[in-house]
Formats: sequence, structure tokens, C-alpha cells
Amino acid sequence: MYRSHNCGELRMEHVGQVITLAGWVAKRRDFGAMTFVDLRDRYGITQLSFNEAYNQDLLNMARGLGREFVIQITGTVTERSNKNPKIPTGDVEIIVESMNILNTSLTPPFTIEEETDGGDDIRMQYRYLDLRRDNVRQNLILRHQVAKHVRQYLDHLNFIEVETPVLIKSTPEGARDFVVPSRMNPGQFYALPQSPQTFKQLLMVSGFDRYYQIVKCFRDEDLRADRQPEFTQIDCEMSFVEQEDILNLYEGMIQHLFKEVKGVDIGTLPRMTFDEAMANYGNDKPDIRFEMTFKYLTDLVKGKGFPVFDAAECVLAICADNCASYTRKQLDELTEWVKRPQIGAKGLVYVFCNADGTYKSSVDKFYSQEDLKAWAEKCGAKAGDLLLLLSGNTAQVRKQMSELRLEMGQRLGYRDKSVFKALWVIDFPLLEQDEESGRWHAMHHPFTSPKPEDMDKLETDPGAIRANAYDMVINGVEVGGGSIRIHDKVLQGKMFKVLGFSEDEARYQFGFLMNAFEYGAPPHGGIAFGFDRLCSLFGGADGIRDFIAFPKNNQGRDMMIDAPSNLDQKQLDELSIGLKS
Ligand code: AMO
Repeated sequence: MYRSHNCGELRMEHVGQVITLAGWVAKRRDFGAMTFVDLRDRYGITQLSFNEAYNQDLLNMARGLGREFVIQITGTVTERSNKNPKIPTGDVEIIVESMNILNTSLTPPFTIEEETDGGDDIRMQYRYLDLRRDNVRQNLILRHQVAKHVRQYLDHLNFIEVETPVLIKSTPEGARDFVVPSRMNPGQFYALPQSPQTFKQLLMVSGFDRYYQIVKCFRDEDLRADRQPEFTQIDCEMSFVEQEDILNLYEGMIQHLFKEVKGVDIGTLPRMTFDEAMANYGNDKPDIRFEMTFKYLTDLVKGKGFPVFDAAECVLAICADNCASYTRKQLDELTEWVKRPQIGAKGLVYVFCNADGTYKSSVDKFYSQEDLKAWAEKCGAKAGDLLLLLSGNTAQVRKQMSELRLEMGQRLGYRDKSVFKALWVIDFPLLEQDEESGRWHAMHHPFTSPKPEDMDKLETDPGAIRANAYDMVINGVEVGGGSIRIHDKVLQGKMFKVLGFSEDEARYQFGFLMNAFEYGAPPHGGIAFGFDRLCSLFGGADGIRDFIAFPKNNQGRDMMIDAPSNLDQKQLDELSIGLKS
């Protein structure tokens, strides 16, 4: 028997018991006649005590222990004279009676503690050591908990988990595919799934009725804090449902997860149309933990001789509470911030709503107190607030203002990670137009069904068609998205036409699905949640990397196994790839 207990479970009630523990040496502290060792395993840390008076040989052995040595000890649980309230086992320590060194260790390249001295790269390279750190391990335990509760919820509702293949043909999610050469079919390639979209629809044709899968997806796209090239979805599909059924069922799932995992009641999810989200937040994933919604001052500001506003299609304002105390320096810095290429604003106009009821703006030359008062009223500003204005083309200025709103929300402490605000964004446009080519693209994917009432615009005004598509957004993060699918082959044919697919192209890419739809496809729809994103939200983190056991870095590299890597010529030849390595 390697151990009778783990390193996280001993308490006062165990005092007097002889126990055996096994784990890693986290820390060693030597004093004159004594040595203390913090022994760590997955469950926690327990203090071991070695004492000259008790056993000199053991003390000498303990003093030879290096960090991360693996040891097994037997000893008696004793009450500590110097208790440590910071850890659950802090009331007790073990007077060690025998010790077995199970393995030695090299000195780790960074400290294995919550606050480590290791930079990102080194931690990624030695990820197996990074995973010994309590905070990273806790993230993976949280991930396990979320997965467990997802399965529990869906299982109760008759969902069946079905695995779909990984070596497939291109899927229609709109990113680049990762491809795998086929040795047996020279010159041909599999694509890794960007999602199991087509397969889950085929499962509906097969009559599975309620499917889910916690599944790896692969997308070759530019990486960000909330994007990994391989990530995990909670992928779901249902038959004989309308949008309302889906929204209700998954609202239930997210409520269940928050309750079980966080002990939080997130309440009913408000619904916001895509148009409302864009108009009020400039963003299809609004962070509704705070207001600061957009106010349109276009009509109020024109005709007073300020050329920038006179020429602008749209003038937008937000009201920052109690920020009239901002200094000139702070505003200059904010102006530089909006002018950065990532934001791209030409400048920032501001108005102080002074405590004495007067106004002071950066455009006083053009606007009277009365004018500024009218702006402030339109923005619902009170004395002490600061108005921030941007102008330009509507789409661009909304985007820029969205960034500024989020930044101000951050600076004002409105984006508290322990507060959760979820909503549905609905009524997405079905199509978006490529600016350069003028071609229409499916905003979600080509199987998304138009709203029946907009169907007549398919040939006349495709841009105005709304889709039966929805996203779930939490704290400004798109955690999930889905749609009701087209199950009618005539409509699907029309959609392919609008999307510019010839019949042959459509048949080449999606012929299998179109064929299947000839055999009685039920009305169906679904959704997929970004599992890593959900976990990082629950964990209160910004990025998803630390919720994935072995993630890639921003260049898409696995630093630990050093992938991707070159292949030798023999392998390339076998795969009929003519590259020289
Ligand atoms: P969509 O492309 O919106 O829909 O993806 C669903 C959710 O997956 C998450 N996600 C990602 N997470 C981490 N890294 C990435 N690179 C990444 N890309 C997407 C997001 C997103 O909301 N088949 C459809 C779903 C459906 O229609 O049922 C789909 O994949 O949280």
C-alpha cells in the first residue's frame, strides 16, 4: 500500500493515528534541530516534521531531499503548535517515522507554486510541471465538473452522446481546414472537422432525435486569448423543434451549470436582437454587466460649424459615470488609445458635466452651453459625468465605440469577473456580403434556415433576411451559437444559389447531405457551446489556455512536444507529398 491517506485530508480528528502518505516535495525548511517538508499531491499539502531528538538518520535523509522528489512516509498525525490557517490541513503535521524515496527529480525550471517565477514559454515547454501547480490543476478539475454536469443535464433529457469521425471532408464553418494526407489515396487529403455540423444533421436524418457530443474541433485561424486551433465544443442537435424549444432547453442547461458549478442563480436570460445589440453596444456579443449604451447625437451636433461632425454619417456618445474628474493627461491618453490602429478612431471629443451644472468640452469653439446641455440630456448624464463622442461611418464608429465602452467599463471596474450576465442574441442576418467580391456568405453556415416571414427576400434583398440563428453570450463572450436548419431540399438549393455555389460545386461539397435529405429529413436545429470558453468564464479567467491540459501557443505550436515538426523524406514520399523537408 503506497498510502493510507492523501495530502489534503488530514485534520485534528486524525491526531494520534499512524498514517502513510506519498507525494512530491514542494518545499523544505531546515532549522537547527528540525526540518519541515511540505508534501504535495493532487489533493493538497501536508506538513511533515523531522526532528533530531526523534531520529537523527531520518533528519539527515530529509535534508537531502530536493524539490519535487517523490517520497513515501509513515508517521503519526500530531497537532501543530504553529498552525497555518491558510491550508485545510494546517492544524496538523506528521512526525515522520520512516521514509522511502520513490524517485529523485531534477530541479524544476520554475517554482511550482500559485505565483510562479516561470514565464509563459517555459511553463508551456514543461506543461506537465505547470499542471502540478494548484491553480492550473483546479482549472482542469473545474473543466471535469462542467463536463459532468453537462452530461447529467442532457442525459436526463434523453440525449444520446454519439461520436463522429475526425478524418472527414471540409466542413462549412468558414475557417481554414487542417488537412491530413491520405497514404492510401495518393494526392488526396482528409480535413479535420471544424465542427461535427454535417454529421449531427445526418444523425437527425437517422432518427436519433436528441444528440450531443463533447467533441474536439479544429480550425486553422488566427489565434487569440479565447481561440485555440483545437478546441472543444458541447455540440447538440435536436429534431422536431423550433427556435423557442432550443432556447428554452439550453437556457436550462446554462442555469443548471451555474447552479451546480458556481452556486449562482443567473436567472432568465434576456433576449436581444442582433440589430438592437449592434445599435446599443456596437457588438453582437454585448457585455451587459454594465449599461453605458450608445446614444446617437448625429442630429443634435450637425450644422454648428464643426466640420468633423458635419461630415460624419454617425455621431455616437457614451456617458462615463463620475469621470468629470478626469485630468487632461488622462483624456490625452484615452485619445491616443482610440487612435491606435487596432481601434482606428480619428479623434475623441469629450464633454465634462461639471458639478456646478456647466459644461466644458473639447469643441467649445463650436458648441454653446445649451448645445452641450442637450447632448448631456440625450445621454442621461448627471453632474460629474463625462461624455465621450466618436464620429464617422456608422459601422466603423459603432465598432470603435464598442471597444471604448469595454475599455471604460474595465477602467471603472464594471467588468467584475465574479458577476455573470448571460443573454441570447437572436435574429442574426442570414447573409453577409464580402466587401471586395460582393459575394454573399452565410453568416452562420449554409444550412441555417431563414425566418419564414423573410423568405420572400431571398432573391430580391438577401442582406435583409434574418435567420433562425442565435448566440448565447455571457459577460461579452460568445459562448455558444446555433440555428434551425433547412430541411427542405428546394430551399437548400435556393440557398446554395444565393451563396454562389453552382449545382456541381454544392453537390461536390455537400452531396452526401443533400442525398440524405432526399430520405425524409425531419425539421431540426441545434447549437454548439465553446466548452473551453465556458470553463474559463466559470474560472474567472481571460483566456482559455489554462483550461486546456496541453494547449498550443499563439503561433499554434505545442512547445512541449515541439509540434508541428518536419517529416523525413521517406514519410513524405509515402504520403505522396513532394516537399523536401
Ligand atoms: P460556431 O462556429 O459558432 O458554431 O462555434 C460554436 C462555439 O464554439 C466556440 N469556438 C471556439 N472556441 C475556442 N477556440 C476557437 N477557435 C473557437 N471557435 C469557436 C465559440 C462558439 O460560440 N456547428 C456550429 C454550431 C451549430 O450551428 O449548431 C458551430 O460550430 O464559443
